[in-house]
Amino acid sequence: MTVIVECEHVVKRYGDVIAVNDVSLSIEEGEVFGLVGPNGAGKTTLIEMIESLRIPDNGSIGVLGLNPVKEADELREKIGVQLQTTSIQPNIKVKEGIKLFAGLYRQPLANPEELLKTLSLEDKADSRFRKLSGGQKQRVAIALALVNDPAVLFFDELTTGLDPRARKNTWELVKDIKRQGKTIFLTTHYMEEAEELCDRVAVIDFGKIIALDTPENLIRDLGAESKVLFRVEGGDEAAAEFEGLAAVSRVEKIQDEVILYTTDGSATLQELVRFADKQGLRLGDIRTEFPDLDDVFLTLTGRELRE
Ligand SMILES: Nc1ncnc2c1ncn2[C@@H]1O[C@H](COP(=O)(O)OP(=O)(O)OP(=O)(O)O)[C@@H](O)[C@H]1O
Ligand SMILES: [Mg+2]
Repeated sequence: MTVIVECEHVVKRYGDVIAVNDVSLSIEEGEVFGLVGPNGAGKTTLIEMIESLRIPDNGSIGVLGLNPVKEADELREKIGVQLQTTSIQPNIKVKEGIKLFAGLYRQPLANPEELLKTLSLEDKADSRFRKLSGGQKQRVAIALALVNDPAVLFFDELTTGLDPRARKNTWELVKDIKRQGKTIFLTTHYMEEAEELCDRVAVIDFGKIIALDTPENLIRDLGAESKVLFRVEGGDEAAAEFEGLAAVSRVEKIQDEVILYTTDGSATLQELVRFADKQGLRLGDIRTEFPDLDDVFLTLTGRELRE
């Protein structure tokens, strides 16, 4: 595998604050890599050092074999960047902006206007940037990051502030870009976004990487249990028997809701349904909750990712 981004013992301080504290990681070609963490964790500081926009105090960074400090100009030609705070001139029209950005590169796409179609912005080609919705602005930001046909793209909080529909649309665009074989490094504080998009996820807290793996492995290593929740008439007598169902480790009853903690949600659910049928119990509001990346963060830090 080709390594696209390599960080070794990277440190960045602002006065007494250690914004990025001894971070090492490497990202392979074609991978979508997510950096996840709460506000102020150091995500923007790290991604902007990799983009050669900030200079590390210590450690080394390589991107496409280039040094972002010493070979910044050459590197900028080859990467696509969307910043957390985009500063696009508000009065510029979408089509003009794309042409303008394409003009900044030695080797832009032959037809950068085609990006308007790819990103469903055709009917906004002559709209001014300030008149666009949040989701449309983010699509323009993606278009601008693509004008030089980069091998690797950096997205810093691409979907923050978007409504759920615009967020899902943006996710589809990211997947399209991945399908073109490009490498993507993104930051987010939405765990569901990381789970949906990323091949691997690094969890960052107070400038330090505290976990790094595929979403599946992070969740599995947690050893967290799933829950099967439901209501039942006459559950009191049955409660003791629920404990004997497949994979159930513990039963809790909160008001009239029963919660089965289980190491295998699907097996427990199946057996529960059979059991209720045999006993003539009427179950209602059955649902299952599986552990997710939010639980990973909670377990690692004792805090919720977003307070
Ligand atoms: N230019 C700067 N000058 C001084 N301190 C800074 C600067 N940039 C970031 N910091 C500090 O470094 C730490 C990390 O900030 P950073 O912006 O990298 O976090 P983040 O994870 O991107 O947060 P968010 O989710 O809010 O975007 C914070 O404590 C922040 O206050
Ligand atoms: Mg940030």
